[in-house]
Amino acid sequence: MSHAEDNAGTRRDFLYFATAGTGAVVTGAAVWPLVNQMNASADVKAMSSIYVDISGVETGTQLTVKWRGKPVFIRRRTQDEIDAARAVDLGELIDQTAENANKPGADASDENRALDEAGEWLVMIGVCTHLGCVPIGNGSGDFGGWFCPCHGSHYDTSGRIRKGPAPRNLDIPVAQFTDESTILLG
Ligand code: FES
Repeated sequence: MSHAEDNAGTRRDFLYFATAGTGAVVTGAAVWPLVNQMNASADVKAMSSIYVDISGVETGTQLTVKWRGKPVFIRRRTQDEIDAARAVDLGELIDQTAENANKPGADASDENRALDEAGEWLVMIGVCTHLGCVPIGNGSGDFGGWFCPCHGSHYDTSGRIRKGPAPRNLDIPVAQFTDESTILLG
């Protein structure tokens, strides 16, 4: 694992995160660009929550930050991704619960999983619910969302498991906007 810090603040630097799971490691699939957005405060409480600047995230791309030792995907979805996610009949889902820390007990409709009402922003823990690999994003898999190469789990554009061994949708952490370009995790 290695990382570089971006001091300019305009371009992302990358922390290459190699999964150390029990599954097969597919070349190229387990290397992830992460942006270290940890709050500089050494205070323990501050470290449990981080502010993420999302102003540089373009539509159709994903920012991955490390939070509480796990990757968190922050995706700015295209309208096509949103429409695809919202067109799904909930009865087709393997896991019909939201796994959403912001809305416990809610169903897995995309409206309940997205951070904003329009559905542009989707924030998820980037850990496969099967055995903990980090799924590949950017329209991967049979459902155009994320794909976990370890054992072949396919997630849709809302991060819901649709095919493969993973039992649950990708978890959604406690998150909120603090202003239009900042998301607070935790
Ligand atoms: S860890 Fe097994 S499919 Fe993702």
